[in-house]
Amino acid sequence: MSSDRDDFLRREFPMRAEDYEFLRRLAVRTTGIELSDAKKEMVYSRLVRRIRALHMDSFATYCRHLDQNPAAELSFFVNAITTNLTSFFREGHHFEALRTTILPDLVRRNAASRKLRIWSAACSTGEEPYSIAMSVLDSNLCSGWDVRVLATDIDSNVLAHATAGRYALERVQGLAADIVQRHFTRLDQDGILEVRPAVEALVSFRQLNLMQEPWPMTGLFDVVFCRNVVIYFSKDTQRLLFNRIAEQMPVGGYLCIGHSETMHGLSDRFESLGRTMYRKRF
Ligand SMILES: C[S@@+](CC[C@H](N)C(=O)[O-])C[C@H]1O[C@@H](n2cnc3c(N)ncnc32)[C@H](O)[C@@H]1O
Repeated sequence: MSSDRDDFLRREFPMRAEDYEFLRRLAVRTTGIELSDAKKEMVYSRLVRRIRALHMDSFATYCRHLDQNPAAELSFFVNAITTNLTSFFREGHHFEALRTTILPDLVRRNAASRKLRIWSAACSTGEEPYSIAMSVLDSNLCSGWDVRVLATDIDSNVLAHATAGRYALERVQGLAADIVQRHFTRLDQDGILEVRPAVEALVSFRQLNLMQEPWPMTGLFDVVFCRNVVIYFSKDTQRLLFNRIAEQMPVGGYLCIGHSETMHGLSDRFESLGRTMYRKRF
């Protein structure tokens, strides 16, 4: 029976244990993403295209290149190791809660300023922040308010897609027809849909590595969506991140996390509202 190591050596490009160790350390140091041994196959297949494009002959050469040219190569590496799976109104109960309980509460609490700030902290290709903006518009609670959704991600490729606001028809196929009609325009016969300007106007996209310190944002966010990203981080990194997010929110602000994530044992600054929703206590 061949070992895992032999399999990797027989590939188009050899990837030695020390190459993987180098990539693993670089990933966690620069992005917080933990690459376990189980991710070896994924890392191989995502980087192999880049190695071919650079006309290199091995992962060892690629690791040396990364080491010597971080300014030029690091963003390709980071974009390759991120997992960007997302969809419109993913984990729909968060958007339902936003419309029916969170926004009504915030509209009462922020009545004096008529300002609302929402952060989508790992926005991928934009479906999440656009779904937030659509929910705000559909709630009809904030007309005339100063509402802004900040959408950030570390990955420059997904941000370019998100900023364009264009999606293939199949990306909206599960949505109710009235939502598609209200918030998208059909661009051409190939089935590309564009998010309408009223939705786009609420959202600003910026590149942000959640690991960087300090974050550049100065104001507080009434609602933070930090969903399906901390699963890639260690518990220690999650603890630090949730406490930093708490610093970026007012008391009573709302935090939504992903379906397989939990705050349990990580930060006592949030109280659970059930179904991966939290409110900042202090
Ligand atoms: C699986 S997607 C989640 C998208 C969306 N939040 C959702 O739940 O549908 C995870 C996103 O986290 C981003 N990400 C990973 N590490 C990050 C970091 N250190 N800082 C900012 N974004 C990061 C990835 O680029 C990716 O787009």
